[in-house]
Amino acid sequence: MSQPESDTPFKIEYAQRVNRLPPYLFGRINKMIYDKRVSGDDVIELGMGNPSDPPEDMVIEKLVEAARDPKNHRYSKNNGIANLRREVGAKYFKKYGVNVDPDDEVMVCLGSKEGFSHMCLALMGPGDTAIVPAPYFPVHVYAVALASGNVISLDVTNSDKFLSDIAYTCETLYPKPKLLILCYPHNPSSVVVEQAFFDEVVKLAKKYNLMVISDFAYADVAFDGYKPPSFLASEGAKEVGVEFTTMSKGYNMAGWRVGFCAGNRQMITALGTIKGYYDYGMFQAIQIAAIVALRNTDAAVEEQSRIYQGRRDALCDGLVRLGWEDARPKAGMFVWQPIPEPWRSKMSTMDFAMMLLEKGNVAVSPGSGFGPAGEGFLRMSLVENEERLRQAVRHIKTCLKDESVEASV
Ligand SMILES: Cc1ncc(COP(=O)(O)O)c(C=O)c1O
Repeated sequence: MSQPESDTPFKIEYAQRVNRLPPYLFGRINKMIYDKRVSGDDVIELGMGNPSDPPEDMVIEKLVEAARDPKNHRYSKNNGIANLRREVGAKYFKKYGVNVDPDDEVMVCLGSKEGFSHMCLALMGPGDTAIVPAPYFPVHVYAVALASGNVISLDVTNSDKFLSDIAYTCETLYPKPKLLILCYPHNPSSVVVEQAFFDEVVKLAKKYNLMVISDFAYADVAFDGYKPPSFLASEGAKEVGVEFTTMSKGYNMAGWRVGFCAGNRQMITALGTIKGYYDYGMFQAIQIAAIVALRNTDAAVEEQSRIYQGRRDALCDGLVRLGWEDARPKAGMFVWQPIPEPWRSKMSTMDFAMMLLEKGNVAVSPGSGFGPAGEGFLRMSLVENEERLRQAVRHIKTCLKDESVEASV
């Protein structure tokens, strides 16, 4: 006998962890970029930090060769193949003088974002609090929220104050924070630090029993001789935390999804436990090609930084000529640009970004997409070539000239 049909409409009910995610602020901008492109406009995209250059030929060739090998199509090792983990250890030693044991202090992740998010899931739960730098890279907040944890965001733009705010928060918040998330070179603000900063972090972490995750996504992109330090190079860092690195930025392998976690073995074991339930490891051909990239393409990684530096100068020189503040970063893929007056007092950051897109065909990320601390700023990524960046400056100039005429009519 068939069941009578119910009158109540079927309801899809999301989990609380999805409902409590903050709203996605880039939705409006992305929709307009899409609509403009459909109608044939040439939009200059300085929004997302999505690298536009290809990886080295030898890396692609190795991927093709490895993909042709029938042995490489089975499920791979969950924590990554041993030779890749060894290569990560070798890079840490060569570049930072850091020893990590490839067997249980290194984990291969499906991009650092995956590893970071699952690490938060492994460490955080209801009632737990993480300290996050503000303005914030959205993933730093969402990953904690998805793990049912709470976030307290502290101003990252003055490093000494950031350290004293961390100490104050640990002294006064109850229950005290469990996790400190760091990101240097910072996305979006481009703030950088020296090793002494991480030495202080380790002291604080030990004093307050605060675990640390260092998101070192922009380790390989630095300018004017600046060398971003690794958190793991500070004495005692491995006792309190881990660091995530990636092949997305310096190696132009963003779509390949290759990232690494290195450091504290207990934290890495916890990540491995979570990942063991969620995935079966990375396609082996990608891991083999990643080994070739790590072993043989240092010169290309350095050249890529020079390319970003040239783009940085093309964009910042142009904006300075328009009378904007010189916000030249020392590292990373972004210019964190204060919006000049009178626009800053006249309109919201989101409206300003929408105006540049609508009238100038230049897409940038409004700072407010990185939390309230980003209001008044634009994040401009260096993924277009120098000529396109100069063109973007010309478009911005025209767009703002038209606006001031309109405003004064
Ligand atoms: C600060 C930061 N962390 C992590 C990521 C994600 O990197 P991956 O491609 O390795 O997941 C990004 C990418 O934009 C980033 O800006």
